[in-house]
Amino acid sequence: MDSFRIRGGARLEGSLRVSGAKNAALPILCAALLADGEHRFRNVPALRDVATMGQLLETMGLTVVQDGSVLDITSRAVNEPVAPYELVKKMRASVLVLGPLVARYGEATVSLPGGCAIGARPIDQHLKGLEAMGAKVDLDHGYVHVKVPRGRLTGAEVVLDMPTVTGTENLMSAAVLAEGRTTLVNAAREPEIEELARVLNKMGANVTGAGTDVIVIEGREGLEPVDHAIMADRIEAGTYMVAAAATKGNVYLDGVTFDHLEAVAAKMRQAGCEVEREGEGVRVVAEGDLKAVDIKTAPHPGFPTDMQAQLMVLMVMAKGQSVIEETIFENRFMHVPELNRMGANISVHGRTATVKGVDSLQGASVMATDLRASASLVIAGLLAQGETEVLRVYHIDRGYEHIEEKLAGLGATIERVPGASA
Ligand code: EPZ
Repeated sequence: MDSFRIRGGARLEGSLRVSGAKNAALPILCAALLADGEHRFRNVPALRDVATMGQLLETMGLTVVQDGSVLDITSRAVNEPVAPYELVKKMRASVLVLGPLVARYGEATVSLPGGCAIGARPIDQHLKGLEAMGAKVDLDHGYVHVKVPRGRLTGAEVVLDMPTVTGTENLMSAAVLAEGRTTLVNAAREPEIEELARVLNKMGANVTGAGTDVIVIEGREGLEPVDHAIMADRIEAGTYMVAAAATKGNVYLDGVTFDHLEAVAAKMRQAGCEVEREGEGVRVVAEGDLKAVDIKTAPHPGFPTDMQAQLMVLMVMAKGQSVIEETIFENRFMHVPELNRMGANISVHGRTATVKGVDSLQGASVMATDLRASASLVIAGLLAQGETEVLRVYHIDRGYEHIEEKLAGLGATIERVPGASA
C-alpha cells in the first residue's frame, strides 16, 4: 500500500484546476443504465471510485472506457441486474445502480453496502421509496432483492425521513421511467443532485425542483444516451482552500463554482482568511493568525460533513477554542487521534470535538482511515514541523485526482512512496 512522505513548512502559492466531481460522476455513470447506446461523459476525474463504478457496470455487460477525463459508456440491455458483494464492499456508492436497474428492468439484486469507517449508513430510505413506487423488497443473505410485480414502477409521493443524498439520487433515477408522477419530499439539495437532474433531463426525462427539498419527476417511456461534462468537485476545491489557508498561502483554484462553497467560504472568512471570487474560480489568502470558530455540519446548503475533517486541521492552529459538531455521521472523528499524535489538542465527546489551538504540529507517521480524514492528515503534514508519513493513501486515491502532483505544483514537498501491493 502506497504512502505519502511530506515535509512541512512551505506556504502554498500558485494556481490549480479543480477536477470533476466524484459525487456527481458516480450517480451519473449509473444513469447510463437507463438508456442503451453511446454515452460520453467529460471532465470525469481519474479516481479509484470511478474505476470501481466502471468495473461494476462492466460486470453487467456495459462497455466502459476512460481516456484521460473522457469516459465513454456503451450501454446495452444488461445480462443480469446484479451488483455483487465483492464490488459493493469496496464502494458503498455502488448502491446507486439500484434505482436505474429497477426502473429499467423491474428488478435488481444489490449487495447491502454494509457499514463503513464513518458509520452504519443504512439504505432504508432508498428501499422505502422503491416500495412506495410498487416494488417488493426482500433481504436475503446480505443481498437486497427488489422486484416490481407489475413490471414497471408507478409514480408515488415519497417523504424522506432525512435528506439522504444517494437516497434522493436513487429514487430520482428510478422515477424517470415510472408510470406517472413521483414527488420526493424532504429531498437532499446538494449541487450533485442538481447535476444528476440536468443529465437525466438531457436524456429526455422530466425532473423539476432539483436543488430544493421537493423534486417532481414525470415518468417517461424511454430515454436517450447523453453527452455531458461533469461539474467541478466542490469538496476537492474546499480541501485545497483549507490547505492554502493552513500554510498561510495564496492560492487560486480554477473552475470552481463559488456558490457551491458558500458555507465553507463563510467559515474560513470568519476564521480570518480572505476567500474571494476571481474569474471562474476562487482565491484564498491567509496572512495573520487564524481565529477559532465553531462548526456544525448539516445537509446542503449547511456546512458539508465532507469538509469537517479539513476545517478541523485549520482550527488546530487557530487562536482559541473551537467546537465542532458532526451531525450527519456517527463516527467521523477518526482523524482526531492521528492529529493528536502530531501535537494537536482535540477532545471528543460523542459527536462533538473540542479543538484547543496549538502553536505547531510535529511530523509523525499517521494512518489514513477514510477519504476525508486522510485529506486532513495530508494538510496537517503540510503545516507540521519535520516529516510526516501518511500510510494507506489508497483512501485518498478514491477521491482526490493526482493530489501529490497538485500540491507539489503549489510548492509543497510531498512524494508518493510505493508500498507493497495491497
Ligand atoms: C453521500 O453519502 C456522499 N457520497 C458522502 O460523501 C457524503 O458524506 C454524504 O452524502 C453526506 O453529504 C456520495 O455522494 C457518493 P446520506 P450518502 O445518505 O448518500 C442516514 C465522500 O467523502 N441515512 O446523505 O451515503 C445516514 O446513515 C462521501 O465523498 C439513513 O439513515 O449519505 C447518514 O447518517 C462520504 N438511511 C445520513 O442519513 C438511508 O436510507 C446522511 O446519509 C440513507 C441515509
